[in-house]
Amino acid sequence: MVQTEPIIRLQNVHKTFNSHPVLRGVNLDVLPHKTTVIIGRSGCGKSVLLRHVVGLLKPDRGKVYFRKYEISALPERILARVRSRIGFLFQGGALFDSMTVRQNVCFPLEEHAIGTRAERKNRCHTVLSLVGLDGLQNQYPEELSGGQKKRVALARAIAMGPEVILYDEPTTGLDPIRADLINELIIKLQRALGTTALVVTHDMASARKVGDRIVMLDEGQLIVDTTPEGLNDIRDETVMRFIHGQASAAELAELQTEQLAANGMEPNA
Ligand SMILES: Nc1ncnc2c1ncn2[C@@H]1O[C@H](COP(=O)(O)OP(=O)(O)OP(=O)(O)O)[C@@H](O)[C@H]1O
Ligand SMILES: [Mg+2]
Repeated sequence: MVQTEPIIRLQNVHKTFNSHPVLRGVNLDVLPHKTTVIIGRSGCGKSVLLRHVVGLLKPDRGKVYFRKYEISALPERILARVRSRIGFLFQGGALFDSMTVRQNVCFPLEEHAIGTRAERKNRCHTVLSLVGLDGLQNQYPEELSGGQKKRVALARAIAMGPEVILYDEPTTGLDPIRADLINELIIKLQRALGTTALVVTHDMASARKVGDRIVMLDEGQLIVDTTPEGLNDIRDETVMRFIHGQASAAELAELQTEQLAANGMEPNA
């Protein structure tokens, strides 16, 4: 059997913030041309993990590789070059409010001095068409809906023709139809460009739809490694509750709603 080399490798990655351990020995090999989805509860460290992949955060312990490069040990100058091969769709979109849609999408191309002005304009036009927003080139982010902003951010993430695209919560906050259009875009990009995708989400419908492989981060470690179909066979209670969106009895008890009434906060009849 031919062994495929991982394109991204996390090796025993540990990260603690203010004595709160967030990543506690994460091992993950991301295979090329596949979509790997990381699921997990809010605050479990999914965005922190993605930031390690592009070297925006350094592990306290362990190593992060992109191909042959040890991301976690590269000097900033080389890191910037390697980063240009990785597209990052930030959780909040992270568009520049003072720039138009076209300027936002062109920004990485200008930063890395890719092509002539005309070629950059052309590239921008192509990626905006791909995400269905070609008509909005001259709008500013504040004039766009949440879904449109996500698509602009996606166009910017793919403008450089990256080998890998990291998606941080690409569908969160969108209506189900818009969310599904983003899912379709992720699939389309992966098929059209042959890119490798690493998607972070707690949207299970999205995870099942776009993922070739699904891993779950819980208490700083990856506790599940399966396929969308494989999710149906999982019997672990923590994982099942997450997949089906059911809080545990202990978590429900923490709501302490009876205290509202005890403190005179019940609504007036
Ligand atoms: N730069 C930072 N400094 C200190 N603490 C941080 C930093 N970044 C993240 N954290 C903490 O790390 C934990 C994990 O954060 P992270 O943003 O990775 O969660 P997440 O899994 O992406 O959650 P969500 O699904 O809500 O986006 C949180 O407790 C957060 O407060
Ligand atoms: Mg996050």
